[in-house]
Amino acid sequence: MPVLYGVGVGPGDKELITVKGSKIIEKCDVIVAPTATEGGESIAFETAKDYVRDDAEVAILHFPMGGKDRTIKSKEAYDFIEKRLSEGKNVAFLTIGDPYVYSTYIHMLSHVKEHGFEVKTVPGITSFCAGASLVDKTLVIGNEKLVILPAAKINEITDEKFIVVMKLYKHEEEVLNILEEKGFNYTYISRVGREGETVLTDRESILKLRDYMSLIIASRE
Ligand SMILES: C[S@@+](CC[C@H](N)C(=O)[O-])C[C@H]1O[C@@H](n2cnc3c(N)ncnc32)[C@H](O)[C@@H]1O
Repeated sequence: MPVLYGVGVGPGDKELITVKGSKIIEKCDVIVAPTATEGGESIAFETAKDYVRDDAEVAILHFPMGGKDRTIKSKEAYDFIEKRLSEGKNVAFLTIGDPYVYSTYIHMLSHVKEHGFEVKTVPGITSFCAGASLVDKTLVIGNEKLVILPAAKINEITDEKFIVVMKLYKHEEEVLNILEEKGFNYTYISRVGREGETVLTDRESILKLRDYMSLIIASRE
C-alpha cells in the first residue's frame, strides 16, 4: 500500500536531516516540497535534494501564506498527491524543521487522511532547537515551561521565563518592545543552518534585517 511520508528535513543544514528522513526520501517515487512564492525555490527541497533519486518525480508546489488562494492551492496539492498515491507510488512531503510545528503538512494531512491513505511522519530538528544549539542558549530547564508562540501573539505572554517567538516578520518592533518592557534577554537568529545565518542581540540591527526566516529565543530571571 502506498504511503504519504511527511518528512521534517530540519532547519536547512543538509547535515541536520535525520538518517531515517534521508532513507525515506531515497525510497520515494515522488517528492513534494512547498514554496511560499509562485515559482520560488523550496528551502525544504534544497536541503534534501542530495537524497532525491534521479528518477523521482519532483513537484515544488506553491502554498500561499494566507488569503483566499490558500484553500484552493492546498486542494490542488492534495489532488496531485492523491493521484500519485492512487497509482501506487510512495510520496514524500518535505517540510522545514519538524512537520508538526507550524507546517503546511498539517493542512495537507486532514485531506489525505479523509481519503483513507496511509500516512507516516518522520520528525525533524526544529528551527528553534537548531537555533538554541547555535547560540548555546537554554530553551527551558527544571520545572519551568517553554512557550512557543507566533510574533502576532506576543502581547499574550504573562509570567513566562522562557519563550521562543516564531514568524517574526513584520512584527519585529512590537516583539522587541514587549520583550524589553518585560525584562527579557533575547537573541535573534535568522537562517540558522543556512547561507546567511545571522545572530543578533541588538535592537537596531534586528530592525534593520527583518528576515522572514528568523526567530527569537528569550529568557528572564
Ligand atoms: C512555517 S514556520 C515553519 C517551522 C518549522 N516547521 C520548524 O519546525 O521550525 C516558519 C517559521 O519558522 C522559523 N524558521 C524556520 N526555519 C528557520 C531558520 N532556518 N532559521 C530561523 N528561523 C526559522 C521562522 O520563525 C519562520 O517564520
